[in-house]
Amino acid sequence: MSELLEARSISKAYQIKSGLLGTAVTSVLHDISFKLGSGQILAVVGESGSGKSTLARQVVMLEQPDSGEMFLEGIPYASCSDLHQRIRMIFQNPIASLNPRKRVYQLLEEPLINYKNLSRSERDDIIYQTLEQVGLDRDQSQLYPHMFSGGQRQRVAISRALVLQPRVIVADEAVSALDVSVQAQILNLMMDLRDELGTSWFFITHDISVVNVIADRVMVLYAGRVMETGSVKQVLETPAHPYTQKLLRSVPVAGNTRALINGDLSTAGDVITSASSCVYWNKCPLADSRCVESVPPMINLDNRLVACFKAG
Ligand SMILES: Nc1ncnc2c1ncn2[C@@H]1O[C@H](COP(=O)(O)OP(=O)(O)OP(=O)(O)O)[C@@H](O)[C@H]1O
Ligand code: SF4
Ligand SMILES: [Mg+2]
Repeated sequence: MSELLEARSISKAYQIKSGLLGTAVTSVLHDISFKLGSGQILAVVGESGSGKSTLARQVVMLEQPDSGEMFLEGIPYASCSDLHQRIRMIFQNPIASLNPRKRVYQLLEEPLINYKNLSRSERDDIIYQTLEQVGLDRDQSQLYPHMFSGGQRQRVAISRALVLQPRVIVADEAVSALDVSVQAQILNLMMDLRDELGTSWFFITHDISVVNVIADRVMVLYAGRVMETGSVKQVLETPAHPYTQKLLRSVPVAGNTRALINGDLSTAGDVITSASSCVYWNKCPLADSRCVESVPPMINLDNRLVACFKAG
C-alpha cells in the first residue's frame, strides 16, 4: 500500500539580489525524500534556516519544487485536483493568519464556500461540529479572533484547517508561541484528532521535548538536507547521525521544560556547502577525507535512514 504523503528528491532554490544589479541563486532544499503514513505525526526538526518552512510550502503546494515530486495517496500532486482541500496548513501566529475583521463563523465558512457546494444549513452543521471537535462552543463562532486567548486562537486556526476534513495538516511551529501548559492542551488536541479522525500531521518544531510527546516519526534537517529520519524512539534514544547526536546533547530532554534547538549550533553562514562533500563535514568530529570528497548516501539502519558514511 502506498503512503499517504510522499516526497521524492525535492529540491528548491531561489534567485536573490546580489550586488547592485546582479542576481545569485540560493539553494535551500536538496534532495529531500520522506513518507508520512495515514494517522501518523511526522515531526520535522532543525535549527533556524534549515529549510523547514520552505519544505512546508512545497508540501502544501504554495510553491513548486524545482525538481522532485510530491505524491498524495500515490497520486502525483499535479494530478490531484482537490489537493488544497486535503492538505491544510496552520502557522505559529494565528493572529497573523486569521483575518481580524471576520468572525469565527465566517473564517470557517470561507473555505467551505470556496471548495464545497453546500447549503447554508449544511455549512452550519459542519462548522458547529468542527468547533466541537476542537473544544470550542457554537456561541464562540460569533466572536472575532482577538477575543480569544492564544491557545483558544490556535484552536480556531486548527478548526479552520479541519473544516474541509483534510487528510494532512501541516503545522509550522504551531505551538511554539504558547505557554507550556496551553501547549500541552493543543498537543493533546492534535493527538486526539489523529486518533479520532485519522488526521496526519506534518509537524514542524524546534522543540525536541514536543517531538517526544507528539510524534511517531522524526526527520532531522540540516542546511536543507535530511540528516536522519526514523521513529521517535530510534532517533531520540539512539541518534545515529553526528548532527542529531549534537542536537540532542545540546538540549535537556526530560521534564516539563522546553528543549529548544538553538541557532548557535550552526548558522547558515557556517555551512560550507559543496555538491561533492558531506554538508556537515566542517562541524563533524568524525569527518575524514572521504566526507570532504564525496556525499554520503542514505544508509538504511533498521528502517531509519542516516546520511553518514559512519552510521551503523
Ligand atoms: N523566498 C525566498 N527567497 C530567498 N531565500 C529564501 C526564501 N525563502 C527561504 N529562503 C532562505 O532559505 C533558508 C531556509 O529558510 P526557512 O524559512 O525555510 O528556514 P526554517 O527552518 O523554517 O527557519 P526558522 O526555524 O527560523 O523558521 C533561509 O536561509 C532563508 O533565508
Ligand atoms: S559523512 Fe562524515 S562528515 Fe558527514 S556526518 Fe558522517 S562522519 Fe560526519
Ligand atoms: Mg520556519
